[in-house]
Amino acid sequence: MTRLDLVIFGATGFTGKHAVVEMARMSSKYQLSWAIAGRSQSKLEDVLRDARRIIGEEISCAKIIIADVKDAQSLRDMCSQARVVVSCCGPYRFYGEPVVRAAIDAQTHYVDVSGEPQFIETMQLKYDAQAREAGVFVISACGFDSIPNDLGVVFLEQNFEGTLNSVESYLSASGPKGSGAINYGTWESLIYGITYLGELPELRKKIYPEPMPECEPKLKRRWCLHRRLGGWCVPFPGADASVLHRSQRARRGADPRHRPLRVRTYVRLPALLHALALLLAALILYVMTRSRCTRWLLLKYPRLFSLGYITAEGPSEEVICNTTFSFHLLGEGWGPGTSLDAAPDKQLAVRVSGVNPGYGATVVALLLSAVTILSERDRMPPLGGVVTAGFAFRNTNIIKHLQEHNLKFEIVSVDF
Ligand SMILES: NC(=O)c1ccc[n+]([C@@H]2O[C@H](COP(=O)([O-])OP(=O)(O)OC[C@H]3O[C@@H](n4cnc5c(N)ncnc54)[C@H](OP(=O)(O)O)[C@@H]3O)[C@@H](O)[C@H]2O)c1
Repeated sequence: MTRLDLVIFGATGFTGKHAVVEMARMSSKYQLSWAIAGRSQSKLEDVLRDARRIIGEEISCAKIIIADVKDAQSLRDMCSQARVVVSCCGPYRFYGEPVVRAAIDAQTHYVDVSGEPQFIETMQLKYDAQAREAGVFVISACGFDSIPNDLGVVFLEQNFEGTLNSVESYLSASGPKGSGAINYGTWESLIYGITYLGELPELRKKIYPEPMPECEPKLKRRWCLHRRLGGWCVPFPGADASVLHRSQRARRGADPRHRPLRVRTYVRLPALLHALALLLAALILYVMTRSRCTRWLLLKYPRLFSLGYITAEGPSEEVICNTTFSFHLLGEGWGPGTSLDAAPDKQLAVRVSGVNPGYGATVVALLLSAVTILSERDRMPPLGGVVTAGFAFRNTNIIKHLQEHNLKFEIVSVDF
């Protein structure tokens, strides 16, 4: 049986529906055969009907596949019909692993938009060897977490001319005030991510028993609250730090001569008050996830505890289309010819920016990740495995394709 190019699993969810619309737009450009999958035939039919209405034309090629996370055989059947599974079915902590397992069993590549380090790193620990054996890629965090940062570092390296030593990344975002900006699915993933934060150190010791070799000069950790780029900055709480670290580990694993970059990620806010509010919110969330009862409250009343940012029905099109983001990645190292024993003498900044981070840029990056596996397998690492986008795609044309879809990568001039 000839396989379809890709299947979007979790197509009935908030993210999945956006992925279906984007796929319908992309499929003729990239000449792809595809299907949508989930556990309800009628919901999937509604998704196709709505997508048809939004893009204003027939979606002739999309097939419907019924698959349920709780039914392993249905997942295997789904995976064996496609070359790549695009999973939008989260929280991945609960729904991700059976899909990864089924994809590997069926020798099907897998991509998702998880921003959950515990899930992603557990998959690496449990399935990396199996994925390599099957010759497939399992690549998580192909959305806003963590494509802009992960491929931003690749773009910075490609343009640095010399030896890059360290990268500091600063995210800023803006959007309409006072209205829901994020769907409940992401909130749920976040709450469970914070709840089980304590799993990470043990997990990391198992994945990487040896510490990463230290290269001098070390990148200093900045204060939890510091001023830079005209704003107030705090550590970025997303999955990016974990992903960027894994990219460096994978590079080093593939080539022992690779000099691992030190990378840190921050969020930049316009005013001190905003930065303090974010730190306070993070602290309150952390404390509330410690007990079952307060965690229940967080999950039950998302709008209340997120001050209106999280809603069960998801953000409106108006909100998501008017939300913008940019990452500034500040690289430091040595120009060509300078000895690495001297102090770093070169700086370069790049900006990765776009619109609609959660559901626009995210699904574009996710689908282009799948397209890249389909069309540029020969430019990717030969073995497959559970890896990052920054490692898997660094020699492909994915950045060029992202640029064509409004995710801008550019060199900028900033005052370090
Ligand atoms: N990293 C990023 O930038 C980014 C951006 C957006 C979203 N995300 C992540 O994407 C995930 C989904 O978010 P969302 O807001 O789209 O959530 P959502 O609207 O709740 O969608 C969840 C999807 O999972 C499906 N599902 C649940 N249980 C299932 C089962 N047993 N079998 C088959 N399908 C099942 C649901 O199907 P039904 O419709 O049948 O219930 C639905 O399609 C979250 O983990 C979120 O954090 C990440």
